[in-house]
Amino acid sequence: MKDNIKAMRDYVRGITDFVPEVALTLGSGLGSFAENITVSCEVPYSDIPGFPVSTAPGHAGKLVFGYLGKTPIVCLNGRVHLYEGYAPEQVVTPVRLVQALGAKILFLTNAAGGLKKSYTPGTLALITDQISSFVPNPLIGPNDDDEGVRFPDMTCVYDLALRDIVKQTAKELDIDLDEGVYVQLTGPSFETPAEIRMVAALGGDIVGMSTVVEAITARHCGMRVVGISLISNLAAGISKTLLSSEEVNEAGAAAAPRFTKLVAQAIQRF
Ligand code: HPA
Repeated sequence: MKDNIKAMRDYVRGITDFVPEVALTLGSGLGSFAENITVSCEVPYSDIPGFPVSTAPGHAGKLVFGYLGKTPIVCLNGRVHLYEGYAPEQVVTPVRLVQALGAKILFLTNAAGGLKKSYTPGTLALITDQISSFVPNPLIGPNDDDEGVRFPDMTCVYDLALRDIVKQTAKELDIDLDEGVYVQLTGPSFETPAEIRMVAALGGDIVGMSTVVEAITARHCGMRVVGISLISNLAAGISKTLLSSEEVNEAGAAAAPRFTKLVAQAIQRF
């Protein structure tokens, strides 16, 4: 374990001995998810030495430990992005910390643009695979062999069994769930229509500014990964209107009850 992660873990361990099974990264639309859990302990990011603190609007920064039913979870309430100027290694620090605290599963959520014909704003899409080619790989640099191998396999980033549970849960709750391949771009500018045509040609269905680097890191250190995108808008050139963060946040708020219900129920079945 890297020294900085060890120091962060020791700091949190000085506050709580809570061992989470699942770590949940809250994207737009799930910002108030933590209201659904029986909270055991909260740790503000700014108190954790060296922990990257989010500058993005709507991303409060704290770890929330608690129970969803019988499942011990930790919510990453707020995340940092490459576009904020953080190095890839810093962006994935929260993933390494929750793994060091015991989490075996990483559940990633985000708001994103959609390319697939079946999507409309508000669609929930299970992430089936990802394309990382447009962002720096977070594993570049010396490898910590205790954490994971130098060349980790990425054949199945998004865990099949967990995906099946999410799909089954959606079915039982009568919540529509589409799926797609997520492509991370750095942002902060939204894509051009030509870039979206490129993404489509490459096999991407969903575009966003997070998630992929976190998923790579989680697989590297042996966590199982599952992810859902809220399609807040159709992607540039497909959407009839110009894109804005207000639209993304409004779609997030509108989808929040459905999104929350699905994620909360699925986690209890993992
Ligand atoms: N592109 C990139 N990121 C996004 C989008 C988009 O259209 N919508 C929400 N996040």
